[in-house]
Amino acid sequence: MQVNTYKLTFVFTFVFMLVVAAVSVFQSAWAQEMIGFTDSKGGALKIKTEYFETAQAKQFMSSGKNPYTGDKSALESGKKIYHLYSCNQCHGSNAQGQTAHGLTGPRFNHAKSAEDKGMFEIIWAGTDGGMSAKGKGLMDPNDPENGMSPDEVLKVIAWIRSQGS
Ligand code: HEC
Repeated sequence: MQVNTYKLTFVFTFVFMLVVAAVSVFQSAWAQEMIGFTDSKGGALKIKTEYFETAQAKQFMSSGKNPYTGDKSALESGKKIYHLYSCNQCHGSNAQGQTAHGLTGPRFNHAKSAEDKGMFEIIWAGTDGGMSAKGKGLMDPNDPENGMSPDEVLKVIAWIRSQGS
């Protein structure tokens, strides 16, 4: 039997192109770019991609913008989470300050707290000035699941911002 090499080449090329096209479509749909996060010393802050579970957290991960800003039900959850993690014990029940200073600005200890991305980094990884890390795996190094998820941190930030500046 004679093999028609032209036909074969054509079929292979066609299948190859289909596979390439499919892979690039899936990549653009699923591969989420992560913006660079920094710790309080300006070093790279690595956060596991899988911690960004919700659509809103994923959006923040790739844009640095907090999708919960001004979102009423997110603000309510944010307030609960703020109290659940005892932020109120140091920063006051309305984030106005208590043993530690207020979080509503406009003046901050760390200038980057004025931006949601910067405040996220501080809540997640802490500072060397007395604020301990609250992010998953960092809050309790013996239990990777103990601590706030990025989604929770974003809700807390949205609530803090709603308390005025
Ligand atoms: C045990 C007391 C304590 C608790 C609890 C605490 N913090 Fe803090 N926090 C501090 C102190 C002290 C600082 C100042 C650290 C510094 O300037 O480096 C601080 C700083 C911050 C800052 C930076 C503010 C700025 O001016 O730049 C943010 C944001 C913050 N805390 C949010 C939170 C949130 C949200 C929680 C709860 C999840 C929380 N903190 C829980 C003590 C606390």
